[in-house]
Amino acid sequence: MTRIGFAYNQKPESNPLHLTDAESTRTEDEPSSRRRKWTRRPRVAEPAPGSDQGSSERRAPSAETRSLSEHPAHLTTVNDEYAEWDLSSTIDAVEHALEPLGEVIRLEAVGDFPERLRLARPDIVYNIAEGFHGANREAHVPAICEFYGLPYSGSDPWTLSLCLDKARTKEFLAYNRVPTAPFVLVRAEHEVSSLMERVTTRRLRGVNGRLRLPLFVKPVHEGSSKGITERNFCRTPAELAEVTLFLLEHYKQPVLVEEYLPGAEFTCAVLGNGAGARVLPIVGMRFDALPEGSIPVYGFEAKWLWDRPEDPLQIFECPAQIDSALQSRIEQVTLAAYYVLGCRDWSRIDIRLDADGVPNIVEVNPLPGILPNAQDNSCFPKAARAAGMTYDELIQASLRHAAERQNIRLGGKGARRTRRTAALG
Ligand SMILES: Nc1ncnc2c1ncn2[C@@H]1O[C@H](COP(=O)(O)OP(=O)(O)O)[C@@H](O)[C@H]1O
Ligand SMILES: [Mg+2]
Repeated sequence: MTRIGFAYNQKPESNPLHLTDAESTRTEDEPSSRRRKWTRRPRVAEPAPGSDQGSSERRAPSAETRSLSEHPAHLTTVNDEYAEWDLSSTIDAVEHALEPLGEVIRLEAVGDFPERLRLARPDIVYNIAEGFHGANREAHVPAICEFYGLPYSGSDPWTLSLCLDKARTKEFLAYNRVPTAPFVLVRAEHEVSSLMERVTTRRLRGVNGRLRLPLFVKPVHEGSSKGITERNFCRTPAELAEVTLFLLEHYKQPVLVEEYLPGAEFTCAVLGNGAGARVLPIVGMRFDALPEGSIPVYGFEAKWLWDRPEDPLQIFECPAQIDSALQSRIEQVTLAAYYVLGCRDWSRIDIRLDADGVPNIVEVNPLPGILPNAQDNSCFPKAARAAGMTYDELIQASLRHAAERQNIRLGGKGARRTRRTAALG
């Protein structure tokens, strides 16, 4: 029977100072595998493997987090190094879903993972590992698989690294004429003055590198709304300078400055490859669910503060209530991005309409969030459910696409529901 190596990163067990209400109230942001767990722990070399975070999934909101809502700038004082990693409940659910397709070998992607992978030599690796170090962290497991010549699921290292750089992704999309908002990347403080010279209130979209207010700014290498609060919506050059400098200083990475897309927002789950790739029912954002007067963005406040277990924010609508013409325009742009960025097997793509109603790509998530519980509001599983698929069927479909692409047979004679763990070093 097929031997499936299951590569993942699990949130460490003890994380005493994390702002779990952020985590627990939260859904995913999407890639909920990219969900941030706000911690105040110093960075450590490596998490304790095999830990269990299931019980921390839902906790009452803390006063600490509420105070953050009053002082968004204080977000910068927290670290979130394990935020993208998955909870044990997600890892167990994925393992359970994979079991009918073969023998599942757990390979936690920490420590001597390369050696354990080499010794296990699975027929295929099912990869949901988010990685840890640096801007190429999501590419590490696929790159190690390639080093050993082992087939794996999902996008390759290049696509995973590219999509974790929102500016490079936009350059690539723009070159390929896939709509995305005009932007500039600000790498250092001294570039802020030249940014000011490019800003205009006139309608000169994309002309001579001019950027038209209002603008939206965000750290270039982050997900899960890290560094994205309402403050990032800039109406004036003064606001723009202030927020850009703030993000440069606190996130220690370039800042992406984009024209603000004022229209409706959607997120699209894609499954499959080549001509067979399909967009699952589109998830729409209902910004009218946000508190009155708030900026219509799905940022930190919406993901982590206003969405609570006892009072969930009803922000997702799936399938989105849109006419078929808009639906097909969104699907076209989504699939165009999926192809030009080289996404494989599955991905989740954020879309927003510009002032003319044209769907623009906001960002692409080749390792989509996959929280198993329906009430967790995880967009990819939600879209799959709307398409009539169970959670297990979704996970299995993503592996089947990877297997088909690489001519690997899944299951096999007397497929057993066995599992083992390649010993952690
Ligand atoms: N150019 C933009 N125009 C309007 N809203 C934007 C723009 N860029 C981001 N946003 C808003 O900010 C949210 C988070 O941005 P995104 O790049 O998707 O970050 P994350 O990786 O945290 O999901 C989006 O869902 C959207 O609501
Ligand atoms: Mg997003």
